[in-house]
Amino acid sequence: MPRGSFSARWINLPGARVLARADLMSRTSDRKPPFLARLLGQAVARIYLRRPEMAEVIAIRYRSLRGFLVGVGNELAYRLGLQRAPGLISANLELTNHCNLKCSFCPTGNGLLARPRGFMEPEVFRRALAGAGPLEFMLLFQWGESLLHPQFGVLAQEARAHGARTLVTTNGTLLDDRRTETLLGAGLDRVTVSVDGDAESHAAIRGVPLARTEAGLDRLIAERDRRDLDLAIDVSMVVSPETEHAVEAFEARYADRVDRVQKIPLLTCGERRTRCREPWRGGLVVLQDGQVTVCCVDHDGELAFGDVSENSLRSLWNGPAMKELRRQHVEGDLPPICARCTEYPTDAAAPRFSKPKEASKEAPHMQLPPRGDQPHGGPRPRRGEPAA
Ligand SMILES: C[S@@+](CC[C@H](N)C(=O)[O-])C[C@H]1O[C@@H](n2cnc3c(N)ncnc32)[C@H](O)[C@@H]1O
Ligand code: SF4
Repeated sequence: MPRGSFSARWINLPGARVLARADLMSRTSDRKPPFLARLLGQAVARIYLRRPEMAEVIAIRYRSLRGFLVGVGNELAYRLGLQRAPGLISANLELTNHCNLKCSFCPTGNGLLARPRGFMEPEVFRRALAGAGPLEFMLLFQWGESLLHPQFGVLAQEARAHGARTLVTTNGTLLDDRRTETLLGAGLDRVTVSVDGDAESHAAIRGVPLARTEAGLDRLIAERDRRDLDLAIDVSMVVSPETEHAVEAFEARYADRVDRVQKIPLLTCGERRTRCREPWRGGLVVLQDGQVTVCCVDHDGELAFGDVSENSLRSLWNGPAMKELRRQHVEGDLPPICARCTEYPTDAAAPRFSKPKEASKEAPHMQLPPRGDQPHGGPRPRRGEPAA
């Protein structure tokens, strides 16, 4: 389907059949969200959320009429504390939880990840897509380096053919000529390269010189420009005690080189009592072995409530386990992983999951969930009833 075209899809709001996937106004380049999406992003961020820094994220997430309407419905359901939410908008597909780096704050790199490592089978990937229905976008990564997946290019193209925008975040260190070719041939909409602060903090956290990461980033930008592709290329840093001092230098270094300079707060392990938006936001996460959870913070699938080999993503979205999780959040009866989910408080980056009042500079990096007397790496606990 050509980008920016109209295609008739039906929205899943009760009783409403609305022409969907109409872009929120045509645009000259896919590297920037359409004008109307940016305008709506500004309005929602400033007036409704009172967080102007969220405008860009909203414009990137909600670029079609369908996406916007389902997003509004999901937000209403969150506000009203409903156990059903109108629709699935996105899926995170963890192509692998293997990685070539050992970043100090990341459970994949620092050994805290208790799940077995592997590569998503193409069959699992296809089942996830088949059961998802129309999606606005797919994130082709989770807790690992997706460019290590031998079929990365093929799977990314299949995701694109499904009709969703496709995004990937990479550590950039594997972007040699061959992988750059694969990435550019996959029809992705956005590639984000992770850089952590300045050269010193980046090397300390990621264990590789910034020059190596930048070589991949520069190669990708140069080749994208040479081919005149509509691919947005971003950089993203994690704001933490180790990198906070370097935020300004980071922004200055990349502002003119990339389409977006993103900053996200470090996930920390604190104390939370309030409802989180994530169970209503419209996304599900498929781990490399096919298990489904609802939040990317759930790195060991502690909340996992289904498997794409047996359940469609669409049925899981409002299945018994998701309804139960939403009830727990509404009633403040949070499951352990949610009760300890906080983010590093900083003016430089907006929290996605937590409320600023619950954040603490002293909270440690996120850690393994307490597993009672289960041996480390033992079978994961399951919550809720079997999915419908
Ligand atoms: C887990 S990585 C996977 C993609 C790829 N390997 C990379 O490094 O960009 C996805 C994103 O999560 C971020 N990340 C990793 N550990 C984190 C943590 N403890 N808190 C916040 N973000 C984290 C990374 O910096 C990266 O931007
Ligand atoms: S942040 Fe990315 S590159 Fe670093 S260890 Fe985690 S998955 Fe690997």
